[in-house]
Amino acid sequence: MKASTEEFDVVVLGAGAAGMMCAIEAGKRGKSVLVVDHAKAPGEKIRISGGGRCNFTNLNAAPENFLSANPRFCISALRRYTQRDFIRLVERHGIAYHEKTLGQLFCDGSSRQIIDMLVKEMREAGATLQLATEIGEVERAGEEFSVALSTGTIRCRSLVVATGGKSIPKMSATGLGYEIAAKFGLPLVETRPALVPLTFEARTLEKLKELSGIAVDAVVGCGKKRFAEAVLFTHRGLSGPAILQISSYWREGQEIAVSMLPGTDIFERLKTARTQNGRQAVQTALALYLPKRLAQHIAEQEKAEGNLADFSDKRLQNIAAAVNDWRIKPAGSEGYRTAEVTLGGVDTQALDSRTMQAKAVPGLYFIGEVVDVTGWLGGYNFQWAWSSGWSAGQAA
Ligand code: FDA
Repeated sequence: MKASTEEFDVVVLGAGAAGMMCAIEAGKRGKSVLVVDHAKAPGEKIRISGGGRCNFTNLNAAPENFLSANPRFCISALRRYTQRDFIRLVERHGIAYHEKTLGQLFCDGSSRQIIDMLVKEMREAGATLQLATEIGEVERAGEEFSVALSTGTIRCRSLVVATGGKSIPKMSATGLGYEIAAKFGLPLVETRPALVPLTFEARTLEKLKELSGIAVDAVVGCGKKRFAEAVLFTHRGLSGPAILQISSYWREGQEIAVSMLPGTDIFERLKTARTQNGRQAVQTALALYLPKRLAQHIAEQEKAEGNLADFSDKRLQNIAAAVNDWRIKPAGSEGYRTAEVTLGGVDTQALDSRTMQAKAVPGLYFIGEVVDVTGWLGGYNFQWAWSSGWSAGQAA
């Protein structure tokens, strides 16, 4: 049990990616630092990330890969602490890694190596980590903050809120950071689940459920945004990297365009097949390019029974559109239960982009996912956690 009214220079709420990075940097500057978390272990989301291998950054991370009401806000932090800085840290700790695809860097071994690295760095920087501790009222007390913990009240000159977003409540995610922001009068940008599978209403699902488990390469678009990666049919709707990416841009009521087999003009292929092999069934011709079950499904939906020779150009065009330009309106998303991140959060207008400090509340900082900066899938969200945590760590 900690003694009550202990004093620290810096208290960090949340021992996730951003909080630990901030604690390391503030500690290295000689500050006394306490990191508090209600979870029993630090960095739980790091542990489960990247299928247990942690996609810890992206070689191509740049401001364009982030969503925010103010897209320029992230520039400063991303420049001050880059993916190359984090890669150097990983290399210094002898952690082997590889690029999987599209600049995404993963540990060769386990994501626990990243957690161990951060905990070791925190220890070396003299930061204290206090787990399994509930956080109660946060108050301004003159120039300082007082924080009521289940182990007693603490005071600090700098309070860093690094409590993450709302995604995966089962993993200790709470809205505490937003509550603290609201309490101190900071505006919030509406939050919503992002990097999340999309769902269909029952009637569509009934038609598509036989496709569950099938993956195809596609370009998925919504409005002007496009992502070329795999799409996976699930028993609830659609998932896979291209769908997770587009989910951050999609809004209820909008349709998405799924262009399966990008680069393969199915209309041309069907016309050629009709000339060369007119007795071939449509689904057989489609199955040369698509998984058999999907080819069969599309032929059935298009009522394309019979031989290719019986089909006009117009009919073939419609069948091809079901492959190359499939339009579908998702009913919703799987929500925070499975979302990798939370869009929105503490409005960046209220924060200094160099330090992450609240402009109107000196000493109060917000970093990581709780801030209205959300990365694409592919290591970008951790890079934001490292960059924003590092920036606050230089100032807190
Ligand atoms: P983070 O959520 O990591 O940490 C917040 C901390 O605050 C937690 O330790 C939590 O326990 C604590 N906390 C919350 N409420 C509290 C309260 N009321 N009291 C006390 N403590 C409290 N990103 C990426 O770049 N590459 C990847 O491979 C993946 N993979 C991935 C997989 C899955 C399944 C998910 C859910 C997410 C990812 N992400 C990812 C996203 C990434 O995990 C996320 O963006 C960062 O963890 C955000 O870091 P933060 O430090 O801001 O929050």
